[in-house]
Amino acid sequence: MAEPKENLQMEKIVSLCKRRGFVFQSSEIYGGINGFWDYGPLGAELKRNVKELWWNAMTRQREDVAGLEATIIMSPAIWKASGHVDTFSDPMCDCKKCKKRFRADQLCEDQGLTLIKNAAGKFELPAGTKCMSCDSKELTEPRPFNLMFKTYVGPVESEDNIAYLRPETAQAIFAQFKNVLETSRQKVPFGIGQIGKAFRNEVTPRNFIFRSREFEQMELEFFIKPDEVVEAISGSVVTVPETGHPGEPQANWGWQAWHQYWVEERVRFYEGIGLDRSTLGFHRQTPAELAHYARACVDILFKFPFSKKDEQGNVVGDELEGIAARSDFDLSQHQRFSGKPMGVFDEELRAAWGKLPKEKQDDLWKRYYDNRKNYLTKSAKPDETPEQISQQATEDANGLAKGQYIPHVIEPSAGVDRLILALIANAYSETTETDAKGKTETTYVMKFHPRVAPIKAGIFPLLKNKPELLKKAQEVRDLLRPWMNVYYDEAGSIGKRYARQDEAGTPFCVTIDFDTLGEKPELLDTVTLRYRDDGKQERVKISELRDWLLSRIR
Ligand code: GAP
Repeated sequence: MAEPKENLQMEKIVSLCKRRGFVFQSSEIYGGINGFWDYGPLGAELKRNVKELWWNAMTRQREDVAGLEATIIMSPAIWKASGHVDTFSDPMCDCKKCKKRFRADQLCEDQGLTLIKNAAGKFELPAGTKCMSCDSKELTEPRPFNLMFKTYVGPVESEDNIAYLRPETAQAIFAQFKNVLETSRQKVPFGIGQIGKAFRNEVTPRNFIFRSREFEQMELEFFIKPDEVVEAISGSVVTVPETGHPGEPQANWGWQAWHQYWVEERVRFYEGIGLDRSTLGFHRQTPAELAHYARACVDILFKFPFSKKDEQGNVVGDELEGIAARSDFDLSQHQRFSGKPMGVFDEELRAAWGKLPKEKQDDLWKRYYDNRKNYLTKSAKPDETPEQISQQATEDANGLAKGQYIPHVIEPSAGVDRLILALIANAYSETTETDAKGKTETTYVMKFHPRVAPIKAGIFPLLKNKPELLKKAQEVRDLLRPWMNVYYDEAGSIGKRYARQDEAGTPFCVTIDFDTLGEKPELLDTVTLRYRDDGKQERVKISELRDWLLSRIR
């Protein structure tokens, strides 16, 4: 169950994570369980900080986003409507000789090959593909493997009682769209954010916490007006360049501007927690890669130690977050499957529509009709006729004049665990020094941004055997504790205590010494404050310490 020893940097990171209590293998004393990881004391704090920062940035600090916390197990009808029951699968194949199981696309990729999708939509292994374990070329044809974990609700294990552990948090947001809209007094454009566990029975979990079977997501579904509605109200839809922040949201933004806005907002978020833009990459999905309902998807990548290089030798990066423009697919699906209306009424649209010239109305009507017909055709049930589809699309387009439409959605969807791994990989630094006697020692510093650092300040009395120092240090600890996570440590030399906090990634250490007690009267009630990254020290008044720290960790 150990990580494959193919990447020295990853090996060091995994080892530090265990040694310092960031991440442990789940059920380790029983040999572990593949694809499941536990967060230790430092990891739990780091994770909490990351989620708190996301929640703050995405909901509390915004007027236009509301939060949700839904259940992990929901009606299985949700997963039928979303398409997960029928299509949420990875191609899997087995080695006939050693019986090892692989994700077919990864198996090919690891050998510099590309999995083939034939005209009928079935996957085929390219010639030469071999087993990565025993080199045999006798592999089964790839077959779809649904990634959802199944369980039964209630005491009877029958087909009727099957339920799934959610493979994404997003669907609960769509299913509760109307309830949130009605109770939060929001109006489109607005978003619903959620953080929570997701489960996928990955064929081959790998790269530590990068791809696991139980993980957490931070998802925002941001609902916007369809472009035809924006045009009816604002006269036109603005286009923005594909790079750079488009600025504050405007009424004439269509899906493309909103999509670009969220890509840039998310990059700002990452920069704000210490991931420099140079550590990130971007992948704009090609039309062939896009889901049929998606208009665009930009993946924000992080350059992990295991990330591969392109032909020019540049590290490409692996997906941290995907920002997808998902059209009105999700709400439309839930409307069709549940029979409950998912559209909104917009008085502004109704009023604007009445004032539009006939040609403009016809043009917008036709475009909306075509989009609806396209969606309805692609997701038609077997018994639906083209006439029924046209009739439904006509009804939908007629709704514009009444101020009705189904919102589109932009979805920034991030993985908590992947971000934790990115932050750990980014923070990791080691220095090896040889002293005058030839003794070599390696020191580790986790250079976390103060906002995410698990411990914000180490609090040390200079000496353990001086009760006055201990008492004062404990007073400082108690002063800071309600405001931030601090760590009181009186054991060992001050150098050792600094080193322990450097490894934990604590950005500041506070030492209480004899000057604090007034040995030099002018320094009474001041402490030494040491910076983790350069070891510099300065003197700060205890009365100013809390605000000094708060201004740096928020
Ligand atoms: N609602 C859209 C959605 O779920 P996704 O690209 O499948 O999209 C979103 O997942 C994010 O969730 C990914 O960018 C990644 O950060 C995280 N994620 C997905 N599968 C994961 C896994 N097996 N282990 C850890 N994180 C995962």
